[in-house]
Amino acid sequence: MVVSRKYIGLSLPIQLRTTIMKLFFVFLFLLLKWSPAVGEKTAPFCSCDAPPNMRLSQAYTAFQAWKDVMTCDPQNITSDWVGTNVCDYTGVYCAPAPDDPNVLTVAGIDLNYAGICGILPEKLGLLSDLALIHLNSNRFTGKLPSSLNGKYLYEFDASNNEFSGEFPVDVLSLPSLRYFDIRFNKFTGKIPASLFDRNLDAIFINDNRFTGPIPANLGKSSASVVVIADLKLSGCIPTSIGDMSSNLDEIVLLNNGLTGCIPPEVGSLDSVTVFDVGRNKLSGPLPAKIIGMSSLEVLNVASNQLSGVIPDGLCRLPNLKNFTFQDNFFTVEPPSCVALPAKNATGNCILGSPLQKITALCSSFQSKPVRCEQRGSCVVPVPMPFKPPPCSGSGSGWGSGSGWDAGGGGGGGGGSSCIGQGSGSGQGSGGGVGFGIGIGGGGG
Ligand SMILES: *[C@@H]1O[C@H](CO)[C@@H](O)[C@H](O)[C@H]1NC(C)=O
Ligand SMILES: *[C@@H]1O[C@H](CO)[C@@H](O)[C@H](O)[C@H]1NC(C)=O
Ligand SMILES: *[C@@H]1O[C@H](CO)[C@@H](O)[C@H](O)[C@H]1NC(C)=O
Repeated sequence: MVVSRKYIGLSLPIQLRTTIMKLFFVFLFLLLKWSPAVGEKTAPFCSCDAPPNMRLSQAYTAFQAWKDVMTCDPQNITSDWVGTNVCDYTGVYCAPAPDDPNVLTVAGIDLNYAGICGILPEKLGLLSDLALIHLNSNRFTGKLPSSLNGKYLYEFDASNNEFSGEFPVDVLSLPSLRYFDIRFNKFTGKIPASLFDRNLDAIFINDNRFTGPIPANLGKSSASVVVIADLKLSGCIPTSIGDMSSNLDEIVLLNNGLTGCIPPEVGSLDSVTVFDVGRNKLSGPLPAKIIGMSSLEVLNVASNQLSGVIPDGLCRLPNLKNFTFQDNFFTVEPPSCVALPAKNATGNCILGSPLQKITALCSSFQSKPVRCEQRGSCVVPVPMPFKPPPCSGSGSGWGSGSGWDAGGGGGGGGGSSCIGQGSGSGQGSGGGVGFGIGIGGGGG
């Protein structure tokens, strides 16, 4: 059996399907565009000895070279890769050449789920009219050939194989490339900045062995779907992310070891439906501007070190269905969130909510409050000076109830940390915020 393809981001498929459909139609369009006009059909294809044209003759050389280095083919898919009639090979698709409609050429390779072992030989560079390469779920190893040079190559899917080596920048440089999928392989090294300079619509590089930061020019990407997950990255979510507002639908940065704060710039991403930054090391409060993500359907910030107040407007976003924020240090969940159809709030520091962290853990975390500050292309947490407020009945605490602002955080200590007051569990009324209740400390 072929390894089944696993989607990352879990809730991706609906949107993804739309994207794939979109891509598929463009490809159909390409194929149609290539179809010869009625009346000038190409010479009927013969199974005579010589291939009917130079391009197919080169394709024959390429496919035979490839077959020679295949070491397993459990479904015998390539058993008909014999003879010069390459257009009849299983998994090979021919169409009239874009630059010469009278000449038939190889336009696509589709070997998805074939389970084939081997490598991709440099001779595949002879297939210079390819529009799509689908190699999903095989067992190919080694590097991607640097010779791949199709100027029409539009869809490249090498996912779920055992490819290795540095990031395949040669493929990235192909001028027509829109769909780039190398997820579930063993690529190593850094993510190149050029990934975001290309005119791509879909970027899937999750489940490889990349290290280092997400390049700061992330926001230059034209992609609608970006999945950079399950890698061993470091560094922050670049503030340039806000520049993707016109194109971005879904972004999944799950399980990467990213640090820093969630940059307030995400607030301009008003067409994003899926925003998933779960299982990283993000800290600080959610930026108040996050409520600008007005199309959000799925928001996952679970398993980070986020703190403060969840902005009330967030759970009032009209399409938000699923908001998971378990395993953080949030102190306040506004009532609007309670009504969400799918939600997980466990493992935080929210008074009165079930299954929260133990008080000692919350107090110890809250004794080191942070706020977020921009540094270069990152927004990073910086410690807030601890200033015990004067004791007054209204107790607005050191967070001064400004958890709505990007730099505010804290959400107010609710009087629990003022000097000389015994009972500090009241609701912080300072600043008109209303959610600044204090949880930790317990007062002196
Ligand atoms: C593939 O071919 C081999 C040898 O001809 C045969 O033993 C095997 O059963 C075939 N496998 C499939 C899935 O057809
Ligand atoms: C909500 O989103 C989380 C994280 O993306 C996912 O694991 C979970 O399955 C989703 N829940 C529902 C009910 O869709
Ligand atoms: C919520 O998250 C916790 C901690 O990760 C997990 O154990 C629990 O199963 C989740 N609950 C739901 C309803 O998904």
